[in-house]
Amino acid sequence: MPIRTPETSTPGHARLMGVGGYRPSRVVPNSEIVEAIDSSDEWIRTRSGITERRWATPEETVQMMSVAAGRKAIEAAGLDPQQIDCVIVATVSHMLQTPSLAALVADELGTDHPAAFDISAACAGFCHGISMASDFVRGGSAKHVLVIGVERLSDLTNLRDRGTAFIFADGAGAAVVGPSDVPGIGPVVWGSAGEQADLIKQDVDWLTWGTAAERVEQPYLTMDGNPVFRWAAFSMAKVGQEALDRAGVGVDELDCFVPHQANLRIVDALARSMKLPESVTIARDITTMGNTSAASIPLALERLIENGEAKTGDTALLIAFGAGLVYAAQVVIVP
Ligand code: UT7
Repeated sequence: MPIRTPETSTPGHARLMGVGGYRPSRVVPNSEIVEAIDSSDEWIRTRSGITERRWATPEETVQMMSVAAGRKAIEAAGLDPQQIDCVIVATVSHMLQTPSLAALVADELGTDHPAAFDISAACAGFCHGISMASDFVRGGSAKHVLVIGVERLSDLTNLRDRGTAFIFADGAGAAVVGPSDVPGIGPVVWGSAGEQADLIKQDVDWLTWGTAAERVEQPYLTMDGNPVFRWAAFSMAKVGQEALDRAGVGVDELDCFVPHQANLRIVDALARSMKLPESVTIARDITTMGNTSAASIPLALERLIENGEAKTGDTALLIAFGAGLVYAAQVVIVP
């Protein structure tokens, strides 16, 4: 017996309809971090570009931040929460194995029982989510997908670790993906390099930690920053170029470059290797937000839109990369 698919009226294309973000209230300058890691404001600024970051207060949970960013994105899309029929949350800092953060967020947003699930692709999670959402909309599985990237990396950061304490931060960013008459999200270029999994990881799993005979410190994220830096700065330019090629967009046609905000030197190295013209607006949200992993790209995009540096209809290249190692890139039209 064949499956008899009923006629559907899928539009054929998908686009970003609205973007929203949530920046935690507590501003943490470099001066607050340097003593415990024997560092300096100057070292952090020159090596990473970061001058300050946000760390969430106890009330600013991953759920609270996701709902705030998601609500803003839904409003920007001109939709009602009831019109969202799928919620994807990308995160590595939702501390419950189950239920998913997406189900909790969907409920608190007042949606009408949409599909809801979390994905784990670290700093590349938001771009993975956008790719999935685009395919769902184009394939008819959903009409309006809310994609959220959220992290409270401060919960997983050892403030005495010189390699991570100054870089990781908290926040949430979101976008609504919906139907379009013309292409608004280009083909994704994505992949993994699991042989390099040890470069960024949680140092001990929760079960081993929880059942240890002696109480040891909580699990933390560790990062061997230098090889990750080299991998990102050299390999991701090719990935970005491929995403442009697959979307049929030349560098001279690009308006905005919104890479994962991992390190300002990586942002600038990628722009140089890709030979982006001066006219391209480059997101540099890391300077005041630090590295917020899955939240960094939607937060950076939101900032460009709010500042008027990215305008409706602009062409933007997104590139995300991180623990796994994993990466994903696509061209999008700014809503
Ligand atoms: O978001 C997921 C993906 N993550 C990334 O893409 C992050 C990629 N990595 C990075 O951004 C950089 O590797 C860091 C910013 C984390 C570190 O910068 P780096 O230029 O790679 O520094 P390094 O680890 O090679 O260390 C250089 C020097 C060393 O001293 P010597 O051996 O040259 O005397 C370190 O001991 O800097 C020293 N150092 C520090 N000094 C002050 C390392 N960490 C610190 C510190 N403060 N926090």
